[in-house]
Amino acid sequence: MKIDILSLFPRMFQGVFDESIIKRAIDEEKISINIVNFRDYSKDPHNKVDDTPYGGGAGMVLTCQPIFDCVNDLKTPDSKVILLTPSGIPYKQEKVYELSKEKHLIIICGHYEGFDERIRTIVDEEISIGDYVLTGGEIASMILVDSVARVLPGVITEESHKEDSFNNNLLDYPTYTKPREYNGLEVPEVLLSGDHKKIEEYRRNEAIKKTKEIRPDLLGDD
Ligand code: ADE
Repeated sequence: MKIDILSLFPRMFQGVFDESIIKRAIDEEKISINIVNFRDYSKDPHNKVDDTPYGGGAGMVLTCQPIFDCVNDLKTPDSKVILLTPSGIPYKQEKVYELSKEKHLIIICGHYEGFDERIRTIVDEEISIGDYVLTGGEIASMILVDSVARVLPGVITEESHKEDSFNNNLLDYPTYTKPREYNGLEVPEVLLSGDHKKIEEYRRNEAIKKTKEIRPDLLGDD
């Protein structure tokens, strides 16, 4: 999968994509990530990318020209263009799997007070990573890329993500590792039993219990 991220702050991505599982996925050519500074596309003599809002109001608004030209330059018939904005559709695990099937994502990170409404006309999807407002789309794009990269074939084993929280509308079951007892806290006996059927049953019941308690909305119980 190829991903182009349009951002005015390319250095923000250093570290996040240079470590751990994402780095390995890049090194093994499962994913290629390109950070594009759309300021480079500005036709303004001072490379401006924003301006004051028509009608007045606070802050600066991203202008159409640099983003339109940048997307035009990168876009192919295989591209899906995503705009990250708090007013987008809430991002869910289902969407992670859907996006992981795409060949090429172009992700636009908004910044400042917002963007010219006409930018919406060149976008396939608008996504929000949650009901809160960030200073820009950069961190949101890292979350999107991280979540998509980990479910690409061969990045982590399918077994590692098929029982993730949110698959089957359930939160993940609790897990334990050695030692059997720590500071008086015991590992549930059933996990030491070797009885796979019982273990599976225990995990499912625990997942349901946890989901009912913390996220009843996932079960349609709220
Ligand atoms: N940019 C600012 N806040 C955001 C959010 N919650 N989701 C996506 N992009 C954003």
